[in-house]
Amino acid sequence: MNPRKDLITIDALSDEDIRTILDSTSAMKDIFTRSVKKVPALKGKSVLTLFYEPSTRTRSSFEVAAHRLSADVTTFTVSTSSVVKGESVHDTIDTLMSMKMDYIIVRHKNSGIPAVIARHCKASVINAGDGAHAHPSQAFLDAFTIKEKYGEVAGKRVVIIGDILHSRVARSTSTILRRLGAQVAYMGPGPLVPLQQHTGIPRFTNWDQIFEWKPDVIYLLRVQNERIDSPFFPAADYHAAFGVTEERLRRIDDLDLSIMHPGPVNRGVEICDAAMDYRNNLINNQVENGIAARMSILYHLTPETQSND
Ligand code: CP
Repeated sequence: MNPRKDLITIDALSDEDIRTILDSTSAMKDIFTRSVKKVPALKGKSVLTLFYEPSTRTRSSFEVAAHRLSADVTTFTVSTSSVVKGESVHDTIDTLMSMKMDYIIVRHKNSGIPAVIARHCKASVINAGDGAHAHPSQAFLDAFTIKEKYGEVAGKRVVIIGDILHSRVARSTSTILRRLGAQVAYMGPGPLVPLQQHTGIPRFTNWDQIFEWKPDVIYLLRVQNERIDSPFFPAADYHAAFGVTEERLRRIDDLDLSIMHPGPVNRGVEICDAAMDYRNNLINNQVENGIAARMSILYHLTPETQSND
């Protein structure tokens, strides 16, 4: 892979970049089986996690990934920082860059913030989710999980279900899966699913159409309660129309389909309790693979902070 400083979107990567990062993810996962789960690849490098939005999986798995590569990790906690006193993103980055960070992993509610930060600093910037725009490390772990389960991504059929329009996960994951030769379809509430003429992606509005299409993977999106910001969201109606109910789970089981979800899961909304224990539920595999995929991403990026000493 040619030297690449940042990871902002999947679109910005070449096919070779995608293959290289995915291939190394297997090697990174092998490290987990050793008694010493650490390699010196990033010894002496410094990694900063800068999350302006909450996160469990992405932040903790980037931190574990960096530790396993022997990097030093600093967690910037926005809620206890000068950001709450009104400090701008630009000034925060200037301050943090004087600490000579090599990697900055950033999540922000506004699309485009990681790209702006990347232009302003020599550190490798990794987009850990920006608004409804992109979540590239999620895309890598999703692609790897499908490859691990089926041997390859090419030719697999994946239907992504939920509010596609506002989902950075749907955007990034469908992009990487299609680049790798999978067929992707969308299903969800009509106005929240883009038209096929704009995306080239088949658009379904109910489960009968999904089962007719014969997918391999049912990929559920999280209902983003924090963005809906209303106590009146009809969660039971959503579950009945778009969720994996117990009845649909029986059909999914008969057809031997897999279930994926980026987390955190809203039980009783996207997915029923029984589906969490389903034999082909890959959600925990996704979490485990998230560490390996993020190790591979960190390993392959090249910060401009390198020195010759
Ligand atoms: N999938 C994902 O982005 O989860 P977190 O919000 O917990 O990081």
